[in-house]
Amino acid sequence: MWPDYRIQDLLGIEHPIIQAPMAGAGASEMVIAVSEAGGLGSLPCAMLSPDQVRTELGIIRQRTARPINVNFFCHRPPQADPARMAAWKQRLEPYYVELGLDPKAPTPEATRAPFDGTMCALVEEFTPEVVSFHFGLPERGLLGRVKATGAKILCSATSVDEARWLEREGCDAIIAQGAEAGGHRGVFLSEDISTQPGTMALVPQVVDAVRVPVIAAGGIADARGIVAAFALGASAVQIGTAYLFCQEATIGPAHRTALASAKDNATALTNVLTGRPARSLVNRLVREVGPMSELAPEFPLAAGAVAPVRAKAEAAGSGDFTPLWSGQAASLGRALPAGELTKQLAEETLARLQHLRPQALR
Ligand SMILES: Cc1cc2nc3c(=O)[nH]c(=O)nc-3n(C[C@H](O)[C@H](O)[C@H](O)COP(=O)(O)O)c2cc1C
Repeated sequence: MWPDYRIQDLLGIEHPIIQAPMAGAGASEMVIAVSEAGGLGSLPCAMLSPDQVRTELGIIRQRTARPINVNFFCHRPPQADPARMAAWKQRLEPYYVELGLDPKAPTPEATRAPFDGTMCALVEEFTPEVVSFHFGLPERGLLGRVKATGAKILCSATSVDEARWLEREGCDAIIAQGAEAGGHRGVFLSEDISTQPGTMALVPQVVDAVRVPVIAAGGIADARGIVAAFALGASAVQIGTAYLFCQEATIGPAHRTALASAKDNATALTNVLTGRPARSLVNRLVREVGPMSELAPEFPLAAGAVAPVRAKAEAAGSGDFTPLWSGQAASLGRALPAGELTKQLAEETLARLQHLRPQALR
């Protein structure tokens, strides 16, 4: 028995395990595997075009009838700032030169787009059971359209204030994302990441502050972490980094290799990869230009200028300029198929919970 069934009942899933949406790192194969195994598979759409979203959702709906989550970013579209971009490109110029690239070539467009009317129409067409957002919520008109489809709404909060705000705006459950988490901070009420609490401190405070169920995220990678999340009052977990080890993850070889040897202290919060603070394994760009740089243009523009050096380095097998997103618990990862991982996490957690019960109740 799970200690709490609120999320299973709300989302119609068997295990209270949500595979984190991971833009650029997972697509339909991962979603199908996790949802078929009884967890909640999540399709990250922030780096997909509307056509790609349509294709992925078409594949998913053909191959599983189980509930799925579709995820979007809700950042404000960036204001172009040519002076800042010029300073950023100047900072990156030595890398362009070293790799034989022309620093004067036009900067490629950044590839992360916020949720909009076109994506909303796709939600209306495919009616995913769950829609989750990162960096706050879309404007009320769009949110109302998503709600009208019957989808349950989830969103990341990195503080108690953000959790309260999301509950007021009508979220059905809140993902409490602690500082340990891999990828971008979901922060949206503040720019200050120096104050972000860790999962252990954040989850119980969010649980006390809101009435909706809370999903713990950040640094959870095995049964011990899931049991701890329940002990803190969470009703489910959202796990990202541990799923990067699965064959269904769409990460490149450099990322996979770096994760395989990652230790507890291998990551840092950095803004040099996209312009917004995110947790990545420390590579050459993070080490030499960051981890935080005031020169980095607004999210996601910083990534556009890094893209050519990243592509050239990756072609030579190097992850020196690649976003190597990872949480702090990467070394707990296991290279299993995503469905197997979901089932094992559930079984191992239930066994551990049983073991923790007083003898008389077993
Ligand atoms: C590679 C990667 C990409 C991510 N991309 C997204 C995303 O597109 N949308 C989102 O809501 N969260 C994203 N996240 C954050 C996760 O939702 C979650 O908060 C995090 O993975 C939890 O911490 P963990 O990685 O330690 O399990 C990403 C995380 C990783 C590791």
